[in-house]
Amino acid sequence: MDPLAAAAIEARQRARAPFSGFQVGAALEDEEGRIFTGCNVESASYGLTVCAERNAVFRAVAEGARRFRRIAVAADTDVLTPPCGACRQVLWEICGDIEILLVNLKGASESMRLSSLFPRPFDANFLD
Ligand code: THU
Repeated sequence: MDPLAAAAIEARQRARAPFSGFQVGAALEDEEGRIFTGCNVESASYGLTVCAERNAVFRAVAEGARRFRRIAVAADTDVLTPPCGACRQVLWEICGDIEILLVNLKGASESMRLSSLFPRPFDANFLD
């Protein structure tokens, strides 16, 4: 198995999802091959919940990573789970047009570019 997919599946086991029961793991690979993982962490407020993908991105930035290649997203769904809209925005701004590798626990996988999921982004270019 792709080590990035394996890291996302392992990270999923650390999800804190007592309200939805929906556990997600993410693993982000930087240009040097370092891997930063994240899981979803839910709040009783619901709105303060943070997805696995954003936790992986924020952790990577906090560890000093700046340029990225791929992110793997793991969930236990037959239809592979893609990043939510908020995560697409953050991934675009921090990581650019990276490869997204979606995986489930049965070994299914699919990869795509972020630009195919998020075709007309708002970003810092509009603020110039
Ligand atoms: N979630 C993620 O962590 N990533 C996704 O790609 C989809 C949704 C989380 C947020 C929440 O904790 C739970 O899954 C249900 O929406």
